[in-house]
Amino acid sequence: MLIKPGSSLDTYEKIKTLLWEGQVIGLPTETVYGLAGDATNNQAISTIFALKNRPTFNPLICHFHSLKSILEYCESHPALETLAENFWPGPLTVILKRKSSALSSLVYAGLETVAVRIPDHPIALEIIERLERPLAAPSANISECLSPTTPQHVLQAFGEHPQLAAVIDGGPCRVGVESTILDLSQKHPMVLRPGAISYDDLNRVLGNVQSLSPSTSQPVRAPGMTKRHYAPKIPLHINVTAVLSTQALLAFGADVLDGAAATLNLSVSGNIDEAAANLFKMLAELDQPCYTAIAVMPIPHIGVGMAINDRLQRGAASPQSHQTYRYGGL
Ligand code: TXA
Ligand code: MG
Repeated sequence: MLIKPGSSLDTYEKIKTLLWEGQVIGLPTETVYGLAGDATNNQAISTIFALKNRPTFNPLICHFHSLKSILEYCESHPALETLAENFWPGPLTVILKRKSSALSSLVYAGLETVAVRIPDHPIALEIIERLERPLAAPSANISECLSPTTPQHVLQAFGEHPQLAAVIDGGPCRVGVESTILDLSQKHPMVLRPGAISYDDLNRVLGNVQSLSPSTSQPVRAPGMTKRHYAPKIPLHINVTAVLSTQALLAFGADVLDGAAATLNLSVSGNIDEAAANLFKMLAELDQPCYTAIAVMPIPHIGVGMAINDRLQRGAASPQSHQTYRYGGL
């Protein structure tokens, strides 16, 4: 069921009732669509894990309406207020030490920490404020598949599943890649997943920020994860400088390679933010069995381009790849 809340107060009340009952909905955020449920309700959270086919050791992000409500569930951190002033509401998730609270232990997978953010989307904020509880929401895709940036992607992934009570239509997502994850639970703040808030943005505000490089092997301190995520069904080749006539091309910029069976362009003008917003939608469109592969032209490694390249590298990793990382990106 696709629901467009618009300004109808009635609709928001219906959504609130569904969530109070422990049901699960498709929720628009500025980054990607989430599969959302009341973070204090065990039934809702187990439904999310089951729908996504997500391993239960991989914790979920909790979405809040205000810093004040976050502090009911988490210990503060000296950097938290500065981060909130600069980046919230927005595409930044922070890992904090959790307080003992009413959160379902499934949400944080039994860890001492919990991932939190305040999304920059009027519909999501309105729903969370009315519910007066945090909403746990991983991306609304089946684990390891492409992330959803439109309500139609969510419906395509889950169909009219009886355990998905509704998909809220907030239109296409503005950012298009998942939030930056910053771990504040260790000695030095560390970026675990690149996103639209870049490492440089964080370092400018905090200084002394470290970054977890996917290409180096790190001790696994939190969820053990596989390298392959965000994968289309057909093979994905990245940084291509030539394309075959059997392949679909995902181009970037005005200088497009010739000879592909089909071409979509992430941004003709070479705008990296536009490319991020188009990434998952265009990958999904080109993911057709009539092509032998999706070939992607090089994407500049600047700003959100680092997040785009992270997702593309994971999507291109072989299915046999089981390198572990500290975060999963499921
Ligand atoms: O933009 C986003 O972050 C979207 C929207 C819906 O908010 N959500 C999202 O959730 O991308 P998900 O579940 O696909 O990715 C969350 C990542 C997972 O890789 C998980 O391992 C990591 O956050 N994570 C969650 N809690 C954690 C914790 N306590 N410690 C370390 N990593 C954690
Ligand atoms: Mg995900």
